Amino acid sequence: MTSTPAFVPGLAGIPAVESSISFIDGQVGILEYRGIPIEVLAEHSTFEETAYLLLYGSLPNEAELNRFRGRLSARRKLPDRLIETLRLLPGAGHPMLALQVGISILGMHSQRVNLKDRESMENAAIKIIGSLPSLVAAFERARKGLDFVQPKDGMDTAEAFLWMMSGEEPASVAVRALDAALILHAEHTMNASTFTARVVASSESDPYSVCAAAVGSLKGPLHGGANERVLDQLEAIGEAENVRPWVEERLSHKGKVMGFGHRVYKTKDPRSKVLQKLGNQVFEKLGGTPMYELALELEKVMEEKVGAKGICPNVDFFSGLLYQKLEIATDLFTPIFAIARCSGYMAHWMEQMPNNRIFRPTQVYQGAREARYVPMSERK
Ligand code: ACO
Repeated sequence: MTSTPAFVPGLAGIPAVESSISFIDGQVGILEYRGIPIEVLAEHSTFEETAYLLLYGSLPNEAELNRFRGRLSARRKLPDRLIETLRLLPGAGHPMLALQVGISILGMHSQRVNLKDRESMENAAIKIIGSLPSLVAAFERARKGLDFVQPKDGMDTAEAFLWMMSGEEPASVAVRALDAALILHAEHTMNASTFTARVVASSESDPYSVCAAAVGSLKGPLHGGANERVLDQLEAIGEAENVRPWVEERLSHKGKVMGFGHRVYKTKDPRSKVLQKLGNQVFEKLGGTPMYELALELEKVMEEKVGAKGICPNVDFFSGLLYQKLEIATDLFTPIFAIARCSGYMAHWMEQMPNNRIFRPTQVYQGAREARYVPMSERK
């Protein structure tokens, strides 16, 4: 008789892959990409350099970085037909759905990727990472009835994205803050969307399908979608004096407070600490936001009520406040997350393929066996 392994809901604590891309110590609050602490990268690196680090496994030298930046920049120009197709999408639909569609169309405009050829895979990864900011900006412009703003050569991802969204040169403090936010969101071990990416990759599907599927998983409010919900939540709370009764009411029926809690971190998420610092720098330059005071009060009350259970602010808690200050629409917060995380998805895709085995877990079957097929005439 074969023994069935115990069922673990959410596969909590079950290793799904062997990876050398990122590392988390959730008890202490450590996150490293290829061994480099996230705080160091957020302060000294750029999104381009970080994406290179994730894809290639080590920091680039100057020539390698410049070539990589040039290749990403060249990929920001979208085919006209793709932009036209994005214009046909319902403007009221969620931009994450538009992004999934956009990535799939990008795949339809692309050559077949040879999964046995590292260069062919690199080209596809760079195309996807380079195109995502343009896809998000193109949909944003289209739903406002505006023309697509062509990316300028020489602009890196954060600057190019803000430029393509508004058609105006962004403030350097905004560019730096967004760049650091992209670094912080680029990779995070075996979360739901990265796992999705690896599962899709394992069937030897194409990287566009890998990325589109992962974006679908990231959209959920328990994952990347929490960042938009945090702002909705703060708006619903309204005033600092409402925080305590709001939290008590929510916790009394086991409701989730968005922007708090994490499967792995049992202390404050290190990314949220860096984002809070970044937010402060931006608020100093561009003016504060009353929402931030509200967020601090919410953090204080949550710490008091559930801090001892390890339910602390996660990456989504402060990111929305920062993006709001950069005048980005709330439903674009998760697409920005996707722009960054796509570099992680592609690194995992490239790591998965050389030693690939298709994912095929088992299940604990709990249904009927050898049941009788009841003819229609006998059914009630
Ligand atoms: N608010 C209130 N209670 C919470 C929260 C929260 N945000 N998160 C967890 N808890 C409680 C649960 O009610 C549960 O309590 P119990 O033991 O008394 O039943 C306990 O903590 C464990 O919670 P689970 O949901 O089982 O933990 P899990 O590891 O499965 O979920 C998750 C982690 C999904 C992130 C959860 O904390 C959550 O839903 N948070 C809110 C959504 C959010 O902010 N998501 C973004 C996460 S970061 C990211 O994905 C980028």
